[in-house]
Amino acid sequence: MTTSHPAPPQSAEQRAPGSVQDSALLRAARREPVPHTPVWFMRQAGRSLPEYLQARGDTTMLQACSTPDLVTEITLQPVRRYGVDGAILFSDIVVPLHAAGIDLEIVPGTGPVVAHPIRTAADVDALPELDLAQVEPVAQAVRQLVGELGGTPLIGFSGAPFTLASYLVEGGPSRNHEHTKAMLYGDPGLWRALMDKLARIAATFLEVQVRAGAGAVQLFDSWVGALPAADYRAAVQPHSRFVLDTVAALDVGRQVPRIHFGVGTGELLADMAAAGADVVGVDFRVPLDDATRRIGPAHAVQGNLDPAILFAPWEAVERRVRETLDAGRAAPGHIFNLGHGVIPATDPDVLHRVVDLVHELTAQ
Ligand code: CP3
Repeated sequence: MTTSHPAPPQSAEQRAPGSVQDSALLRAARREPVPHTPVWFMRQAGRSLPEYLQARGDTTMLQACSTPDLVTEITLQPVRRYGVDGAILFSDIVVPLHAAGIDLEIVPGTGPVVAHPIRTAADVDALPELDLAQVEPVAQAVRQLVGELGGTPLIGFSGAPFTLASYLVEGGPSRNHEHTKAMLYGDPGLWRALMDKLARIAATFLEVQVRAGAGAVQLFDSWVGALPAADYRAAVQPHSRFVLDTVAALDVGRQVPRIHFGVGTGELLADMAAAGADVVGVDFRVPLDDATRRIGPAHAVQGNLDPAILFAPWEAVERRVRETLDAGRAAPGHIFNLGHGVIPATDPDVLHRVVDLVHELTAQ
């Protein structure tokens, strides 16, 4: 069942031409007519950009994420370079866990690594709550960004409870999620207690970003495609719904569209939509017209060019961009994106050409 919240009334000023509320991205998310199909890229900020490597220098990833001026600069870089229709906050899904006091680091080339994996009831009990003040540098970065971005929306984000649980329980990136599934299937009470705590952390992290001015949010459940739909519905969806419902219920006087994305989630698309998404992010395995049939007409879609296609000759890229746009016309709203994050070795000029092509082909 989809939870629907009445949209707060929008004042004329909020919908003024050139405002965030009037942007192509928010219009598409609300399934309204758009001046062109909006486009942004997951992982658009980061190692594919020379200016990113220069700005980062030898600052660690977690230090960078809690330095507002650096977050602001790195978040703006792809907006300046590509003219994308949205900025994604430069941060990481483990930032709120680290801010709450969990001992972890982001190891270059590997990803998040947790010092003491969470496996027992005592481990779950000892997990801290996240206090708003602990992510104040993120709030400050969001406020600065909203000031700089003008009519371009800032997309805030959080990791979803399942994906956060996978990192915490496995202790790092995992192919099979075996310890996570051992807890989910073997000790459902403990699993629920862990997911409750992570859902509260994720909801608080999004609340901070929305209160500071983020125009939309994306809940990344990157690894939830590892579950069959029935297990997703029983063991994950209620916790993701708590996070997405918390955002919808915030009294900020504006609608904040919620995008929900995972990889390999073709079998879960309708259930992820029903968790409370306005926009369902689709990976590259399911064409957008097919995805729309699975999701139904009450949700926009986001996606879904295979990021690896950007390494093919331009003619092949162009053909696939056109196919993606054609398939996206079946959806009541389409935000163009990749089917997963930008691969670090991607040529930035190809991304730039994709943005221009999407805008050119869809200009009304
Ligand atoms: O433009 C953007 O999307 C920037 C913001 C962003 C980052 N991480 C920056 C980052 C976002 C939205 C994320 C989310 C994230 N982090 C997810 C969900 C999205 C997805 O890709 O499915 C996940 C699963 C993570 C966990 C994580 N953090 C991984 C797998 C890695 C890569 C490790 C590596 O080096 O290969 C990170 C680190 C990370 N997050 C980097 C960046 C720019 C690289 C850090 C560096 O350059 O040192």
